[in-house]
Amino acid sequence: MNINIIGAGPSGLYFSILMKKSNPAHDITIYEQNRADDTFGFGVVFSDETLGNFHAADAPSHDEIIENFAYWSEIDTWFKGTMVRSDGHGFCGISRHVLLDILQRRAMELGVTIKFMDRVNDVEALRDADLVLGTDGVNSVVRELYKNELGATVSFRPNKFSWMGSTAPMKAFTFIFEENEHGPWIVHGYRFLGNKATWVMETTEKAWLAAGLDKADEAQSAAYLEKVFAKHLHGHKLLTNRSLWRNFPIVKCKTYVNGNVVILGDAAHTAHFSIGSGTKLAIEDAIELHRCFQTVGDNVPKALAMYDTERRTGVEKIQHAAETSLVWFENIDRGLKMDPVQFAFSMLTRSKQITYDNLKLRDASFVDKVDRWFAGTIKAKGFDIPQDNPPPPMFTPFRLRDMVVQNRVVVSPMCQYSAVDGMPNDWHLVHLGSRSIGGAGLIFTEMTDISAEARISPGCTGIWNDAQTQAWKKVVDFVHANGVAKICMQLGHAGRKGSTQLGWQESDAPLPLGNWPIIAPSPIPYTPANQTPREMTRADMDKATAEFVAATKRAEQAGFDMLEVHMAHGYLLATFLSPLTNRRTDEYGGSLAKRLRWPLEVFKACRAAWPKGKPMSVRLSAVDWAPGGMTVEDSIEIAKALKAADCDLIDVSTGQTVADQKPVYGRMYQTPFAEAIRNEVEIATMAVGNIVNADQVNTIVASGRADVVALARPHLADPYFTLHAAAEYGYALQRWPDQYLSGRDQAYGQAQRAREEREALRKAQKPRSVMQGKLAAE
Ligand SMILES: Cc1cc2nc3c(=O)[nH]c(=O)nc-3n(C[C@H](O)[C@H](O)[C@H](O)COP(=O)(O)OP(=O)(O)OC[C@H]3O[C@@H](n4cnc5c(N)ncnc54)[C@H](O)[C@@H]3O)c2cc1C
Ligand SMILES: Cc1cc2nc3c(=O)[nH]c(=O)nc-3n(C[C@H](O)[C@H](O)[C@H](O)COP(=O)(O)O)c2cc1C
Repeated sequence: MNINIIGAGPSGLYFSILMKKSNPAHDITIYEQNRADDTFGFGVVFSDETLGNFHAADAPSHDEIIENFAYWSEIDTWFKGTMVRSDGHGFCGISRHVLLDILQRRAMELGVTIKFMDRVNDVEALRDADLVLGTDGVNSVVRELYKNELGATVSFRPNKFSWMGSTAPMKAFTFIFEENEHGPWIVHGYRFLGNKATWVMETTEKAWLAAGLDKADEAQSAAYLEKVFAKHLHGHKLLTNRSLWRNFPIVKCKTYVNGNVVILGDAAHTAHFSIGSGTKLAIEDAIELHRCFQTVGDNVPKALAMYDTERRTGVEKIQHAAETSLVWFENIDRGLKMDPVQFAFSMLTRSKQITYDNLKLRDASFVDKVDRWFAGTIKAKGFDIPQDNPPPPMFTPFRLRDMVVQNRVVVSPMCQYSAVDGMPNDWHLVHLGSRSIGGAGLIFTEMTDISAEARISPGCTGIWNDAQTQAWKKVVDFVHANGVAKICMQLGHAGRKGSTQLGWQESDAPLPLGNWPIIAPSPIPYTPANQTPREMTRADMDKATAEFVAATKRAEQAGFDMLEVHMAHGYLLATFLSPLTNRRTDEYGGSLAKRLRWPLEVFKACRAAWPKGKPMSVRLSAVDWAPGGMTVEDSIEIAKALKAADCDLIDVSTGQTVADQKPVYGRMYQTPFAEAIRNEVEIATMAVGNIVNADQVNTIVASGRADVVALARPHLADPYFTLHAAAEYGYALQRWPDQYLSGRDQAYGQAQRAREEREALRKAQKPRSVMQGKLAAE
């Protein structure tokens, strides 16, 4: 094949090497605008795992790379003058210059032609080759030319960064956080050659402007930063090399292919430097594209089509992790009040790839430090918990007003669609009863309605009459008599999503027969198939407020420990909050303050009717996942108003406001919103949504992303989630019902054996890292 490659970065060079190796007859030319030894920047970093891939793809260049890297296994986090070290990670740093030199020499040795100082401006002129590669980096001319065909977008992040270096000693992958009168300053640092290290500088735009760096040249910027990081530089200078301040561009493409042209590396997608994966992605693109040609032969359209589909998932996963990571750095203000140990834990777990259990495997002493610190904070709140052998964070108690929950696990509210005329029955007793035996600290009822018309479906529970109140009392009494769990009533009104079928029928669709009239802030149906709700009058609001208050009093009579007002998921109060569903022009629509007016009035009325010593929460849909809808900034403002009205906790969910929402699902996908509200508003939060195991609960609680963690579907599959988690962690103080004590001993024994087997298997299977092998040989 005749192959033209635009750009001699890692992706272009690596692809040329692999193709020439498999078939020396390929005629490959690379056009590079720079000189052979002319490269920007300092060092790049790879993980242990990435090097394994390089070894499999091309052993000679891999061997040369490992001869030239700096290897370390620790991540050091400097915060408030303290260093917290976490070990067991495994990285190598190599000079970008050296890396390119190795790849250039290897490519030329195999017969690839590299035309240096040959900038391509006319991409079309090179298209007569069989295959054209756009590997021309982040400012790609190829992407720009075909941006419509590729569906390419470039968006810029708000923080400022600059790539610098230093000879100051740096042992590990190092994050340094400093704060001065202008704002926060961050170093992402790693050694790459002898005593040289990369220092990527990052700060907020506000701090950058306040420090006058918009008017500073490279030398002035370096001089300013030398002062900020003086105690870490130990008298060394900061080195610059085209170290301009930039905003990180996020590049995404709908397709990487246009005819016989394919774009790879930074031209096609970027991943933020905080997870150090740009060069890894670029080289792995090359490996994957080569694999496609190996699979289909020299059939360019087939190979490119295969690459386009098969490469996407891997790239998007890394881009998603990188975005979660960069958002953490952009919101650094939220963490500045944390203790250094929690701050380091939060930083390490920011992109969700590293968790509590995972860190324990890497460095048990670090997680022990986290557990001890966390247990210390609980003791400081007056709880008697062991300090020498502290429990995992999920098994620590938590107080809201006079209510103390024994652990951080919550059974999330879940409609059972099993009531008749709103009456809870034996199903609800057994369902909630068995979950309370299952060890969770707090159990929520399903959304329980304030009137018959407020129901979502004919199967929903209510609390608008005495009989219902007595039936709920039976459930509450069982929970209190048979375990340590506390129980919270979730009160709601379905609004425009009312009068619909049971959850396992056609959910959200109207009833075939017997529909009742529904109300909402504005007469907009949920979908064209749903009833159009009647626009509420002030008299309707007064009636609903009174029903909320009456239901609150009944919840107290039934003995509930806590009360939640449901303002999420597109139900009545939520539809007042969202601009997508509230189009009113009176004092209950328009600005956020006006949209919040009635929901806040309801909350305050319920709060006044609910005992002072008992806590109240509100469930919010923090974002609507739809253009023009609620944003996290809106939710932060709402949470502030609720806090001022004596709300104790925000239960942070998202979406379900409009039918055409576009949520971005993933592990713990709603937790960042709980984190934002908790740390911006300084109010307790409950995280929920695709949190599936105890490891994630520990990660969320220890990192200060939420105070308690709700699991819905996992509790349907396993009512004894918390008892099983206690056995898994060998946490001996978890209370089991007396009736089940003999089961407990067996469960702990089995969990212990399973732990030992897993550990033995892990040790036997773990491939010896290339770098550890190298270090051992030296
Ligand atoms: C601050 C910072 C820190 C980073 N840290 C890391 C890290 O730690 N680890 C990591 O793996 N990655 C890191 N990266 C990312 C890494 O530098 C890139 O992701 C990687 O080099 C991308 O490789 P590439 O092959 O796509 O293109 P590039 O390396 O960008 O190479 C593109 C090449 O194309 C040439 N070119 C451009 N236009 C033309 C043209 N019209 N004609 C001819 N030639 C052209 C350029 O001169 C260049 O040589 C970092 C990036 C930044 C900005
Ligand atoms: C069967 C079922 C019923 C639900 N009913 C309610 C409810 O009554 N009130 C509520 O706020 N959320 C309800 N939800 C949402 C859950 O509380 C939770 O927020 C959501 O399922 C995400 O958590 P998960 O990923 O742990 O399942 C329900 C979820 C399920 C699966």
